[in-house]
Amino acid sequence: MRILLIGASGMLGTDLLKEWTQDEIIPASTRDADIRDAEQVRALVARTKPDWIVLAAAYTDVDGSERNPELAFAVNGQGAENVARAASEFGARVLFVSTDYLYDGTANWPYEPEDPIAPLNVYGQSKAAGEKAVQMYAKDWCIARTAWLFGAAGNSFPEKILKAAETRTELTVVADQIGSPTYTRDLARAIRDLARGEARGIVNVTNSGSCSWCEFAQEVLRQAGRGAVRVLPITTAQAARLAKRPAYSVLSPASLNAHGVTLRSWQEATTAYLQDLRACGKLP
Ligand SMILES: NC(=O)c1ccc[n+]([C@@H]2O[C@H](COP(=O)([O-])OP(=O)(O)OC[C@H]3O[C@@H](n4cnc5c(N)ncnc54)[C@H](OP(=O)(O)O)[C@@H]3O)[C@@H](O)[C@H]2O)c1
Repeated sequence: MRILLIGASGMLGTDLLKEWTQDEIIPASTRDADIRDAEQVRALVARTKPDWIVLAAAYTDVDGSERNPELAFAVNGQGAENVARAASEFGARVLFVSTDYLYDGTANWPYEPEDPIAPLNVYGQSKAAGEKAVQMYAKDWCIARTAWLFGAAGNSFPEKILKAAETRTELTVVADQIGSPTYTRDLARAIRDLARGEARGIVNVTNSGSCSWCEFAQEVLRQAGRGAVRVLPITTAQAARLAKRPAYSVLSPASLNAHGVTLRSWQEATTAYLQDLRACGKLP
């Protein structure tokens, strides 16, 4: 198969390139096509003639999306529509990477793909627009909803915690948002397997288990040998971030398991991530 990977330079895109060795992968970044521009996207798809387009590109700044909703909707909504239309014109399937921030977080059980969505923030609304466009304009599509990504190629939450712990003995971290941290290498393998298995529809893809950001920080520091640094719980209100975030956004693994794919626990994934950080010199 020939795979056009849009967003290849991002945190997930980098790991998709590492993990997906069984097919021909054509990496694309903004230099190849800005997905906001329909003509650029069309030319890229016409030139590369892929079997699958994996759309891992997005405007991912959640608080930035509140300040600049036009940009969030242009990339995450219109960009997805441009890709879906080009895919349909040239006979490619689309795998769109989506988010747990589609949900309002009022549930207290893991979300299934068919549960109603009600995003609390602009980023979630723009990703919902992207999902809708993919469903409307792509003839053959799969949506992989994921959450709380961390990976060695990005400056994600655990890396920020490790950096903060270098100079501080005490950190405060939000304890009233619950989700499933997901390692981008594990997500990359799952996306590869879903595409190779010709998956269709909406599939939840996260590492198994759940925790708060505070518990995640504690586990990262414990595993990194920095357990002496105290992590104190604070509330979402105390953190005073610009964008609202769901209090609970755990995604049920049933839709992923139905495709014969299971992901390890977020704690095991954290161990692998720390090894990755050491291997690339980001952690001593
Ligand atoms: N990060 C999370 O916690 C999280 C959680 C749930 C879901 N997701 C979803 O997972 C996917 C991957 O996220 P990530 O954190 O790996 O992203 P990321 O590291 O922020 O990378 C974003 C990628 O999108 C590309 N991009 C941005 N604007 C573009 C445009 N106008 N045209 C073409 N490419 C553009 C960037 O390319 P350049 O480098 O060339 O600018 C980059 O490759 C996204 O769909 C995101 O919505 C992320």
